[in-house]
Parts: sequence; C-alpha cells; structure tokens
Amino acid sequence: MLVNGKHFKTVWSEGKHVKMIHQNLLPFDFKIHTCHNYVETAYAIRDMIVRGAGAIGCTAALAMAQAFIEHFPDWNQIDNARRFIESMRPTAQNLFYATKFVAENAQNHIDALELAQLICSQDSNASKAIGEYGAELILNNYSVATHCNAGWLAFTDYGTALAPIYEASRQGKKLKVFVDETRPRSQGARLTAWELYNEGIEHYIIADNATAFFMQKGNIDMMIVGADRIAANGDVANKIGTLEKAILARHFGIPFYVAAPKATFDIHCATGKDIPIEFRNQNEVLYATGPNENNINETILLANPGSPALNPAFDVSPAELISGIITEVGIIKADYQSINKLFKNV
Ligand code: MRU
Repeated sequence: MLVNGKHFKTVWSEGKHVKMIHQNLLPFDFKIHTCHNYVETAYAIRDMIVRGAGAIGCTAALAMAQAFIEHFPDWNQIDNARRFIESMRPTAQNLFYATKFVAENAQNHIDALELAQLICSQDSNASKAIGEYGAELILNNYSVATHCNAGWLAFTDYGTALAPIYEASRQGKKLKVFVDETRPRSQGARLTAWELYNEGIEHYIIADNATAFFMQKGNIDMMIVGADRIAANGDVANKIGTLEKAILARHFGIPFYVAAPKATFDIHCATGKDIPIEFRNQNEVLYATGPNENNINETILLANPGSPALNPAFDVSPAELISGIITEVGIIKADYQSINKLFKNV
C-alpha cells in the first residue's frame, strides 16, 4: 500500500528485527516501530501497536521466528515463547494459526524465518484474492458500510473487508463507503477513514449508532465486515458492534458479507459460543486520546468520574445473519457444509 508515494506493508522483518507501522499513532502521525526480540514483538501485539487479525497473525509468526533465532535449539524456551506470544490476545484465530504453523514445521531458526515470511506472503495473496472475489458483489454507484478496520492495516496488505472496495474502485466503479467509528478504540474513524482518504475513495465516518438511520433511509446497499475468528458452523466473531449491524442488515434486507482468509477459520470451535472473547481495560471506554489544537496528545475523560465501564472487544454474529463469506478461494455460505468443504479441499 502506498503511503506518501512509498510502498509499505503493515509488518515485515529486517534481519532479526520485526518492523511495523505504529497503528496507535495513526492517523495523526506515521512512524515505524521496531521490535528487537520476540518479547518486544509480543508486546506490540498486546499493546495494539499492530492489530487486526491478519496483521496479528503475521506478527506472531515473525515473533516465533525471533524466538527460534534467540533460543534454537532449546525447544523448552521455544515452547515457552510460543505460549507467551499466544497469551497476548485471545480472539484472533490468525495468531494461533501462525504460531502453530511456525512452531510445528520449523526444524531450525532459518526455517522459522522462512515459514514466518510464508505466512506473511500468504496473508497478502489471500487478501488480494478476497478483493477480486468481493469486488464482483459491488455494483457501480453502490454505498457500502463497514465496521472497524479490516483494511490493509489489519493484514500485511490489501485487507479483507476493504479489499473488495479497493478492487471495485480500481475497476472504475463509483462507490461510497459508510465508516462506523467503532467505539471504543475508533479503528473505523481513525484507521479505515485514513486508508480510504489516502485511496481517494468517497467515505463518511458515522457514529456507531447512526447505522440504522442510514439503512432505514435506503442509503446503504450492502455491508462488508472482517472477522477475527469463524467457527465451524459459520458464526463469526468480529469487533464489538458487528452483531448489532448484522441484526440491522437483516431487518432492513441489506446483504451482510464477511470477508476473511482461511487462516481465520477455527474448525475446532463448533459454534460461536466456543470462541474466546477478549475483555479489555475499562479506560478504553472512559477516556479518549488525540492531538489538541497545538498538536500535543491529550487524554480526556468522557464519562462520569468514578463510574466503571465494561469493555468486551468482540461479539459473535450468528451464521444465519450472514449472506456469505468472501474467502481467497471464492464466496461461500456461512454454514457447516460449506466450511467443511473448504477445509476438505485443501
Ligand atoms: O481489536 P482489533 O483492532 O485487533 O480488532 C480486529 C479488527 O480489526 C476487527 O475486528 C476487524 O473487523 C477484523 S480483523 C481483520
């Protein structure tokens, strides 16, 4: 993806260092964050310097490679590192897919780095293919709504929910994007809006609770969201607020698509009830941070002093509310048979 005319991936390795776009600073500042060892890389996942299912997976793979570089041939230490990396965030399946892939297939530190890089290139290729399949669903002059950020920042490149939008726009289709702000961390208002602005795609940030208004007015033709984990029956865990949008879309008869690579499916979770949901610090709900008029970052309290908050980071949309899942091998139904077939064909 181009930033000020220069091509960037969201995360990459340079020698034994892992580098990434510092997403907590966006859209106000663009900086590259360097992690010198696997512990620093794991903390970058925990602190959401890098976030989004695919980007977390690639970062976790690169962290595993660093663990091999630092500790091979001490398999105990490598196992400890794997558990440590996996403890950083519980919901995104890509993280566990990536650590398993590297830890179980690498024989040494050279393999580990190659396998981690393979995860990153598979992530980017899958996203590109998702863009191509998904673009077929977007007609000229469509208004598409999305929630959170499942753009290129959430992967190594292209993204999932935004990839069809980018592809449709490149094909010359005129489109408009409704961007839910995505409280409490505002990944929609900060990250999706930044991506679409840089791509020159018409977009409008809307408050999370304004979606029904625009759907009722007939302003939204379809909705595409990403996924952090998809259960064997097609239930989808995604950023908190997605379930509300899925229910609204069904109420107003609006197609509701999920875009995700195979690495996001967890066929060991029978249904969405088995997906672990992360609860995060209440301060994300109670406070907001951003630059003041002098461009100095400030954190301000948004709520009644002393009132506690609850902060679930994800919710689960049941399969029956999902029109289809756009994967790198085509658009499938959100049901057990289709998902089973997807994995039998590997
Ligand atoms: O908490 P985050 O920002 O890591 O959340 C993940 C997400 O960005 C969203 O849930 C997204 O829609 C799916 S990730 C591709």
